[in-house]
Amino acid sequence: MRKKLAAGNWKMNGLLENLSEIKSLAATAQNSNCQVLICPPAPLIHAMAQISGDIAVGGQTCHANESGAHTGDTSANLLADCGATYVILGHSERRADHGETDTDIRAKTKAAWGAGLTAIVCIGESLAERKASNTLDIIGGQLSTSVPDNATGENLVVAYEPIWAIGTGLTPTLDQIGEVHDFIRARLERRFGQGVGRSVRILYGGSMNPKNAADIADVSNVDGGLVGGASLKAADFSIIIKALG
Ligand code: 13P
Repeated sequence: MRKKLAAGNWKMNGLLENLSEIKSLAATAQNSNCQVLICPPAPLIHAMAQISGDIAVGGQTCHANESGAHTGDTSANLLADCGATYVILGHSERRADHGETDTDIRAKTKAAWGAGLTAIVCIGESLAERKASNTLDIIGGQLSTSVPDNATGENLVVAYEPIWAIGTGLTPTLDQIGEVHDFIRARLERRFGQGVGRSVRILYGGSMNPKNAADIADVSNVDGGLVGGASLKAADFSIIIKALG
């Protein structure tokens, strides 16, 4: 099994001065069994990658095309050129704010792979979908369309992020997290074969914090976390990294 992944998604937070958080994380990352990853806003990627040492750096989205007339967008190749090795794709905030569909995410994932990046493909249900007992249907559909063929444990990470748990302080029960992660694992094994299916890391994301990280880390088929708010401060994120590692 690959190392667990402790991934911080800074979203639209952070300035150049916040690069110091990376330095504060260095010792924790070095002594951890986890791969530590920070995905800052795109303009910080290059500077962060210069000082990140053992900590991997990633983007939060990329365009599906290699280059061209797409004002404001960033190609996967440029992310890689700036030092990124991962990119988050299909985050529910991108789906909501920018209308990204599963088909878009599939195309972006292919672009990410073309640039040698590991794609962290995000999937997750809304509260209404959970209440209607549609969670596994939604997850299954998102997974099959968003993830292209030819996935490997190297180029793909799946992040389960229930939309209603993001930034709310709410989390699913440990049983609910386990149910979804086991389902994702089974789907990956069915589609890509047992070897690949077992080696793709499945992250949990949504209000993960220093208090709940250890319990979530113990759930079956949880191979790490995708952490928003609690990744912004090195002190909090260090506790989560230790809990995962
Ligand atoms: P929070 O940890 O702030 O809930 O955000 C989770 C998330 O969306 C990570 O991608």
